[in-house]
Amino acid sequence: MKIAVLPGDGIGTEIVAQAVKVLEALRSDGLKLEMEYGHLGGAGYDAAGDPFPAATEKLAKESDAVLLGAVGGYQYDNLPRPMRPEQGLLRIRKGLGLFANLRPALVYPELVNSSSLKPELVSGLDIMILRELTGDIYFGQPRGIRTLENGERQGFDTMHYSESEVRRVAHVGFNIAMKRGKKMCSVDKANVLDTSMFWREIVTDVAKEYPQVELSHMYVDNAAMQLVRAPKQFDVILTGNIFGDILSDEASMLTGSIGMLPSASLDSNNKGLYEPCHGSAPDIAGKDIANPLATILSVAMMMRYTFAREDVAQRIEAAVRKTLQQGLRTGDIAEAGMQKIGCAAMGSAVVAAL
Ligand code: IPM
Ligand code: MG
Repeated sequence: MKIAVLPGDGIGTEIVAQAVKVLEALRSDGLKLEMEYGHLGGAGYDAAGDPFPAATEKLAKESDAVLLGAVGGYQYDNLPRPMRPEQGLLRIRKGLGLFANLRPALVYPELVNSSSLKPELVSGLDIMILRELTGDIYFGQPRGIRTLENGERQGFDTMHYSESEVRRVAHVGFNIAMKRGKKMCSVDKANVLDTSMFWREIVTDVAKEYPQVELSHMYVDNAAMQLVRAPKQFDVILTGNIFGDILSDEASMLTGSIGMLPSASLDSNNKGLYEPCHGSAPDIAGKDIANPLATILSVAMMMRYTFAREDVAQRIEAAVRKTLQQGLRTGDIAEAGMQKIGCAAMGSAVVAAL
């Protein structure tokens, strides 16, 4: 297993260090893995003047999987757009063809009271959001800021999805649904957008190959509402890049903390980039208070999807459960009166539980 490790910026360094502790523990238990470090985001800009340096691209392409922390920081906010950390993230996703972004929202029984919703609404919740990651308005051309004939300036972006892009992500969605509750809800805005009308047509067509999966469609505004009204109605949610960006942040809060949510971004051969759903949180960087569990759970996803080691994935997930059962909490998931531990201590606790 050749793993590229890209800590990135902000809390990225701290949380990735905990995930690496878990990988090292697995290695000393006999798992054959190699890790090599690289720079992405602001770290890439600092090291090589590019948020996605050529050396990182080479490393990522030669590896089977990429473990990423997070990118972004105040010091980079005023750089020209191509130099911003986020561009590094978008370019690595696009450059590696990582079109299928899996963002599970799972409520651990121990954290049911940390959710911003009533426990009965979220207890037992288990949703898989599948977000298309390399198309849509994120990458559509043309885009920019232009001056109109009347002299007024205008910002513009282009939303589009080609048939092959929709088909391949729909297949991933149906295959995931087959392994879960066999229900998939495709989320779009087909009442307004042509792109969405087309998306719905193609998803409906792909569905014919999966008669066992119950497919439904929902407008994104309604989906945003249903997620906080009755989230347990969902099994797999399939959606495009921009809607998936928004809905996955919303879904994360159902689980108690965005600090618990891992993600996998896969290409068509299950090569993948694994990162927590949360950002680089520069406000708490370097304070040893970030929650490393989303990153550690991303390693579990890596074992499951890229390396087909369901056994190792479950072992990591069980270790995380155990630390939660022991009452160990970082600040973001601690209930009133609970003792809080730091990022490094949480990483060590998971290693001990392994
Ligand atoms: C995410 C993030 C990124 C995105 C940003 C940092 C570019 O919000 O992974 O959801 O919009 O995809
Ligand atoms: Mg986002």
